[in-house]
Amino acid sequence: MNNLNTTSQKQETITWVGDAQSGHLVLIDQTKLPGELVTIACRDVESVWEAIKMLRVRGAPAIGIAAAYGVVIGLQTLSSDATDEAFDERVNELTDYLANSRPTAVNLFWALDRMRRLALDKTGLSIEEARKKLLAEARDVHEEDREMCRAIGRHGVALLGDVEGVLTHCNAGGLATAEYGTALSVFFTAQDQGQHLHVYVDETRPLLQGARLTAWELMQRGIEATLICDSMAAQVMREGRVQAVITGADRIAANGDSANKIGTYSIAILARAHGIPFYIAAPSSTFDLTLAHGDDIPIEERNPREITHGFGKQTAPDGVQVYNPAFDVTPAEYIDAIITECGVIQPVTEDNIREVLGVV
Ligand code: MRU
Repeated sequence: MNNLNTTSQKQETITWVGDAQSGHLVLIDQTKLPGELVTIACRDVESVWEAIKMLRVRGAPAIGIAAAYGVVIGLQTLSSDATDEAFDERVNELTDYLANSRPTAVNLFWALDRMRRLALDKTGLSIEEARKKLLAEARDVHEEDREMCRAIGRHGVALLGDVEGVLTHCNAGGLATAEYGTALSVFFTAQDQGQHLHVYVDETRPLLQGARLTAWELMQRGIEATLICDSMAAQVMREGRVQAVITGADRIAANGDSANKIGTYSIAILARAHGIPFYIAAPSSTFDLTLAHGDDIPIEERNPREITHGFGKQTAPDGVQVYNPAFDVTPAEYIDAIITECGVIQPVTEDNIREVLGVV
């Protein structure tokens, strides 16, 4: 266990330890931040599922990476002399199970589909060889995300230009990805290039990913950060403190409608009302071009206790009715640009999305 205040060692958000047959996954337990920087070891698929469900690992790209390694872990219990049918059955069972952990971020399904397709195409390979191939694929999903985040940062800085005040919502940083983040990658890259930024951080009710994770990440890197309650964003904009808003996304439909953490939609409307550009930063793995528009994006509803008993303290009367959608959808018309690793999509139209992503 590392104590936040005493360690200077850089802890990766997600680490694979060991080989395909007996290795395991190590995750920063994000539910413990910022008080403690501790890791958990996942040695069976159930603990990977639980880590995703309970937001120990969270953020669209990070849950895709964790799930990809989860498939490798789940196959470790299959006997080395299992038949091809038993192997296929286990792969389908594992990917269906992991896909059930959270419904909104498409990166989860994207990574699982990638693992499933590769696994079901194991012609001529022994179980041992197939396991190794799948671990290599999970490592690729992990490394590619690292690269995509860096590229998003480079494209985003060019788009951002010479601004000082920016606002972000939830956490789209290194904790939500392999490393570096999507929205935060833009801020980190700006800092690397000597640009001074002042980031206003929405606390992000009800689970406080902004306060607990984004503020922590920015402070770790020495970026000036000011925490605000979500309800303060309009006043911050009105006072002219921010000149741009950048958030991540969990799923982007073919027309550009984008699901992200609950509260993002209202920030986008506020930004438009104040003439401030609203940008989304996301890798190509966050696009779901099978969905025509955002109305088809499944929105996760979470436990009412996250609202009535946040962080263990009762803040609402017993028996009160609660609605707790974890995400909302910002219509494409409110998004000034989407920053991807392939380039910037601006204006946000289906044609431009397909052109920049290179998808016909
Ligand atoms: O519920 P969470 O914490 O997984 O929600 C995360 C977000 O909404 C992020 O903004 C999104 O996944 C982008 S992460 C690069």
